[in-house]
Amino acid sequence: MSGPDDPGRPRPLDDRPTDCDRHPGVGTSVGPSSKRASAVNPLDAIPQARTLVTSGASPIPPSDQPARLDALEAAVRARSALVPAVGIVLGSGLGGLADDLDDPVAIPFAELPGWPAATAPGHAGRLLLGHLADTPVVMLQGRFHVYEGNDPGLVVQPVLLFARLGARVVLLTNAAGGVDPGYGPGTLMVIADHLNLTGRTPLLGPNADAIGPRFQDLTDAWSPRLRAALRAAGAAEGVTLAEGIYAGLLGPQYETPAEVRMLRTRGADADGMSTVLECIAARWAGLEVCGVSLVTNAGAGYSGVPLTHEEVLAAGAEAGPRLARVIRRFVADLPAAAPGA
Ligand code: HPA
Repeated sequence: MSGPDDPGRPRPLDDRPTDCDRHPGVGTSVGPSSKRASAVNPLDAIPQARTLVTSGASPIPPSDQPARLDALEAAVRARSALVPAVGIVLGSGLGGLADDLDDPVAIPFAELPGWPAATAPGHAGRLLLGHLADTPVVMLQGRFHVYEGNDPGLVVQPVLLFARLGARVVLLTNAAGGVDPGYGPGTLMVIADHLNLTGRTPLLGPNADAIGPRFQDLTDAWSPRLRAALRAAGAAEGVTLAEGIYAGLLGPQYETPAEVRMLRTRGADADGMSTVLECIAARWAGLEVCGVSLVTNAGAGYSGVPLTHEEVLAAGAEAGPRLARVIRRFVADLPAAAPGA
């Protein structure tokens, strides 16, 4: 089956550069035109401006991941031989679950090759290996976000590393805003599906076929089997769980009230600034994925008061222990991975 960039496809007429593509006043043209007005970029006269234009996170295409994962795996294996059954990402204010690990080995992000220290408040920035409810797990206490200036390829490296270390299942958690007007602070929502509205993908660039396919299917990206297991864990613990659609945005600003209303019309129930890229990469690497959003605040405009990160952390501290109980139970009762999941 041919893919969307099949070279056999006829090239649409409007792909061709024309005079209309010229940027007025800049003297260069968009696209591979041979009719370039000038080879000189005016920004060359201002070296600082050139740096600003071209700086940012260095791209990490999928094809770079295997070598980077080799180095990360070796660094982890120098400290722990534990083979995790499940990987867990703990979002803003949810890091307390790491204290429940038995015999933990904790590695600060900055001690792993290519990983910067976490910068988001409420994110400890550590990789931990240990046992939770007698199950071997790897945990990420904090995560990398694109809004910190990180390349999507770095943002997803933790879940790719989980797969390298032997995990077959990943549980992603996050703090989120309530887009469903019925979701108040403290609502726990099992993620049934997502909208990737970040404008980014971790799969851009040459593929690494050794990890996953060029064109990743995302039907049932959020495993129906694991969602059922989460619901069962909630019922066993007496914790109410909603289920809905998570919209992943770039951030770091919160949404406008108009954006929240738009997200609602687009089918979102909760929104946040993480998780969707990790889900895509985890599926690409063959992991089975599930997740829970902890709604820390009603979406912008619903309550009439401004949103603050402190409120997000406070709601995480209040509802975090409830979610921790569900996760412990989920891990303890984890069903054996389905073949080919
Ligand atoms: N919007 C986006 N991300 C969030 C929110 C929100 O309202 N609350 C916590 N993370």
